[in-house]
Amino acid sequence: MKKRKRILTGDRPTGRLHLGHYVGSLVNRVKLQEDYETFILIADVQALTDHFEQPGILLQNIREVVRDYLAVGINPEKSTILVQSMIPEIAEMSLYYLNLVTVARLQRNPTVKDEMKQKGFEQNLPAGFLVYPVHQAADITAFQADLVPVGKDQLPMIEQTVEIVRRFNTLYKKTIVEPKALVGEVARLPGTDGQAKMGKSLGNAIYLSDGAKTVEKKVMKMYTDPTRLRATDPGHVEGNPVFTYHDAFNPDKEEVAALKVRYEKGTVGDVEVKRRLVEALNLFLAPIRERRAKYEQDDKKIDEVLIKGTHRARTVARETMRRVRGAMQVNYPFSSP
Ligand code: TRP
Repeated sequence: MKKRKRILTGDRPTGRLHLGHYVGSLVNRVKLQEDYETFILIADVQALTDHFEQPGILLQNIREVVRDYLAVGINPEKSTILVQSMIPEIAEMSLYYLNLVTVARLQRNPTVKDEMKQKGFEQNLPAGFLVYPVHQAADITAFQADLVPVGKDQLPMIEQTVEIVRRFNTLYKKTIVEPKALVGEVARLPGTDGQAKMGKSLGNAIYLSDGAKTVEKKVMKMYTDPTRLRATDPGHVEGNPVFTYHDAFNPDKEEVAALKVRYEKGTVGDVEVKRRLVEALNLFLAPIRERRAKYEQDDKKIDEVLIKGTHRARTVARETMRRVRGAMQVNYPFSSP
């Protein structure tokens, strides 16, 4: 049997996962786990690069993220879920990799540049933040991932990884698998406030774990078409997040099409369009909530998933590290076995 390709994805555990995560990656992962050997990395060390003042948030957030994974249908028998900080080989590889990249190159990394601006790190840039792409290269290569499913904003991370891998393989010995980005038609979901991106820090997210009432409240307050003053004015569907969500989550395509026609003619109000969206979203979230409820009070079950996944992952990372040391000739006779 042909060996299955390996994919690796990751999330920073700084909060519960929301509909943006679902559309952007979770739905993909649930499908990909059927065809690929899947690793899902919970990037707690990376989360510290911009949350180092609140390390206490990590434990609960790691568990919430795992609950979200299980709730959407990620199967821990098929996907290896691991915690980054529990794999010391990632840290070890990062240090060797740091010699293979220049500070100037990291400062040019577009993702780093964008995030530096967002986080106000332009004045006092923590070194750990600057080098997180190197750490991410270690995440990917420690598990010898062939493919990394990413959104466009993470593409520079894969490019950076490939550069480091090529440098390593030519300088020492061909050891590391060169990963490829798997850029799907990753949809991006706008926030409930109409901003381009849904995000925790933006306060415009609907979470997978939100109850029906919360979803209703958030949807009824959603940003729609600002040029439309009354329900009888012709409205805009394009760029209207209420319709973007309908497209993404309402399985009744005919209803959505009819609502759009009426909206543009001015024969349906925002309230009705939103009511229909509340129904669609709650229908979509119901089975997710149901599955989540099974793990709600049970940290032990969640921890077991992590212990198992991390153990399995560590076996792979250890083997990679052994090869890395071999290639670099730092596998000394006095290395411990
Ligand atoms: N940088 C990713 C994010 O911010 C998380 C991440 C960490 C990751 N390590 C990874 C993604 C390795 C893919 C591969 O969401």
